[in-house]
Amino acid sequence: MKDTYAYETVLVIDFGSRKSQDVARMIRKQHVYSEVFSYTKALEAINEKSPKGIVLCEEGNADLVASLEKKAEELGIPVLKTTEELDLDALNTSEAEQTVKDFLFVRCGVQASWTMSAFVEKATDDIRKQVGDGKVICGLSGGVDSAVTALLVHKAVGDQLTCIFVDHGLMRLGEPEEVVKTFRDRFNLNIVHVDASERFLALLEGVTDPEQKRKIIGTEFIRVFEEEAKKIGDAKFLAQGTIYPDVIESGIDSKGTIKSHHNVGGLPEDMKLDLVEPLRLLFKDEVREVGLELGMPENLVYRHPFPGPGLAVRVIGEITKERLDILRQADAIYIDEIRKHGLYNEIWQAFCILTDTRTVGVSGGERTYAYMLGLRAVNSTDAMTAEWYPFPHDVLQKISSRILQEVPQVNRVVYDVSSKPPATIEWE
Ligand code: XMP
Repeated sequence: MKDTYAYETVLVIDFGSRKSQDVARMIRKQHVYSEVFSYTKALEAINEKSPKGIVLCEEGNADLVASLEKKAEELGIPVLKTTEELDLDALNTSEAEQTVKDFLFVRCGVQASWTMSAFVEKATDDIRKQVGDGKVICGLSGGVDSAVTALLVHKAVGDQLTCIFVDHGLMRLGEPEEVVKTFRDRFNLNIVHVDASERFLALLEGVTDPEQKRKIIGTEFIRVFEEEAKKIGDAKFLAQGTIYPDVIESGIDSKGTIKSHHNVGGLPEDMKLDLVEPLRLLFKDEVREVGLELGMPENLVYRHPFPGPGLAVRVIGEITKERLDILRQADAIYIDEIRKHGLYNEIWQAFCILTDTRTVGVSGGERTYAYMLGLRAVNSTDAMTAEWYPFPHDVLQKISSRILQEVPQVNRVVYDVSSKPPATIEWE
């Protein structure tokens, strides 16, 4: 699908800086549409997009910068150069914001017309044009990207959309029911709810290696999805929740050269379906705004990220229904307390880990030998690096005493004080 946006556009030209996305986000925060292109595609992008302004991010290649500036001058397009005019290491300052505002509204003379309600109108129109009267399928995971995609496609083409929700049995407490209830009862979406938990658990029996767990789950997920998609029959389109950072990152590698966009969202190769990707030009905070615009409940819009393999990578060692249930109970208490203390939206991601270590304890005068549970909470902006979250001690105390009281299979709770790197966010 060609990205034909009727919005006034400001291009951010990337010369290998990790800050290009941040600059584009700053521009969009001012309600001006902005796209990132590698310097190797800069001239093409200028011709194609007819931008109202250009930001050169860390000009590394003097000849190319000069030719871009010359071209921009011929066309009468203002250019903002970083380091000279905008310090990439100080983008979060009010000074930087003012520089960007002056550039956009004074030098480029653009209007602040990029809003999510305008986006929803245009996106639904585009979906209708692309899809015609064809059938669309969409994998719903409960995550915000797939949920917003489904709601947007549903708004555009209603019952032509069928969502497939594969429950692999590795979700959190009450999660499958909540997802199905929300989207079926509240939004009237056609949902095929596949309870494949026994299939997944059977395949995972005895598997302890994290990468093998991921591989088994990924392969089986696609298999189940394809089976269900075939049952739906004559679907022509697959709606996917690909978002802009995925598109940029698959398009620009560290040398600034272009990689193929193929398989951005892990589409199975042999499915002959055309992609509908209505969020492919949105940043995550914009996706959330669209969700709110479409009436999605806040607890879904602002949910912490959850990995595709689910609780499988949070049950260390062997995965059994019993061990998953222990983790579910503890995790529900942890998140409940975080919400009660008003901290959920202060934290990027929080979850429990059931270890395979048992420790000695005592309860009611009796010796116990039960699991040690890990608590993890981190803050991050892009999941590439992360800092452990400094909970107030009384909150940790409350969480720990509730878990120890309410989950008898756990007799020891530890808090993970490791940042990424060298640790990762998940334990497996
Ligand atoms: P790590 O553990 O690598 O995680 O620091 C970074 C972010 O990615 C999530 N994560 C995954 N997401 N499939 C996913 O869809 C996976 O296999 C996977 N492993 C980690 C993790 O929850 C964190 O948000």
